[in-house]
Amino acid sequence: MRILTGIQPSGTPHLGNYFGAMRQVCDLQAKGESFLFIADYHALTVNPDPEALRRNIVNLALDFIACGVDLDRTLFFRQSAIPQVCELSWILSTYTPMGLLERAHSYKDKLARGFDANAGLFTYPVLMAADILLYRSNLVPVGKDQKQHLEITRDIAIKFNNRFGDVLTIPEGYIPDNVAVVPGTDGQKMSKSYDNIIPIFGSEKEIKGKVMSIVTDCKGLAEPKDPDSCNVFKIYSLVAEPEEVEQMRRNYLGGNYGYGHAKKALFEKLWTKFEGMRARRAELAADIPAVESKLAEHAERAREEAEKTLAVVRAAVGLR
Ligand code: TYM
Repeated sequence: MRILTGIQPSGTPHLGNYFGAMRQVCDLQAKGESFLFIADYHALTVNPDPEALRRNIVNLALDFIACGVDLDRTLFFRQSAIPQVCELSWILSTYTPMGLLERAHSYKDKLARGFDANAGLFTYPVLMAADILLYRSNLVPVGKDQKQHLEITRDIAIKFNNRFGDVLTIPEGYIPDNVAVVPGTDGQKMSKSYDNIIPIFGSEKEIKGKVMSIVTDCKGLAEPKDPDSCNVFKIYSLVAEPEEVEQMRRNYLGGNYGYGHAKKALFEKLWTKFEGMRARRAELAADIPAVESKLAEHAERAREEAEKTLAVVRAAVGLR
């Protein structure tokens, strides 16, 4: 089984990225061959500052390795180190109906928010399809916000195979319910674009500040509270052990337990959960050239896989 996912280097990775994708890769990497990449071509769709992009790419590489990506099991590389993905994306785009892209939620959302959309943003799902199909991936762990993009990938691949035979591997998404949408501090989906994130690797002060700012209802200390509609509890459930979660549930229901108590417990859990990873990240940051050279070495191997797929695709469509 081949597992693949990608993350954009668009700033500080947050708990949504961690639970929605990073941790899934770390958990799944023992179960098959895994591929993980930094989606730097995708990041260009918002025309970032070049220096910031370069910095974010290196930082994301450190974040991922610190979070447990095992470089002996997982091929970890920059998307742009394998420009073959652009060739596949072009070929696939010529078999992609316009309507399929026009219906993409993330594109429509950006338009609705007044974003000045470029052509790259519109064809973004085709590049994502190329990412997945280039490496003949079977399983793609992502958060729920990427579900439609996966469906588009499958639609494109099925359409292509209907015309040319069994050329492309049809992937499945892997979106466990409990981490499908990690809420942000304001209760919407945690997202950099909503400015509601809790970073994985922030300073103590920063993370504490973010946790304290999580929006709750205004029930008083003595009143019983509903754990299932509370974002503090939802995030706590992701990081704490089941018996601790049960204890917090009882505390909520029993009254005399305030949101301040819950936030303090959440902060402490988060701070200790990522402690080892923070230390590992600091070690990695002391030798960035070693990380860069690993990425380059892995890209070499990913390129060989990419070429195998492209050879078949080129032949199928009549380019060779
Ligand atoms: P990106 O960079 O926006 O997010 C990376 C991963 O984090 C997940 N995620 C979340 N999961 C749960 N709750 C949240 N609040 C939350 N926020 C983010 C995302 O679903 C994603 O899995 N287009 C992709 C990157 C990409 C890709 C690919 C992914 C490019 N090519 C091929 C898989 C396969 C993106 O922008 O993710």
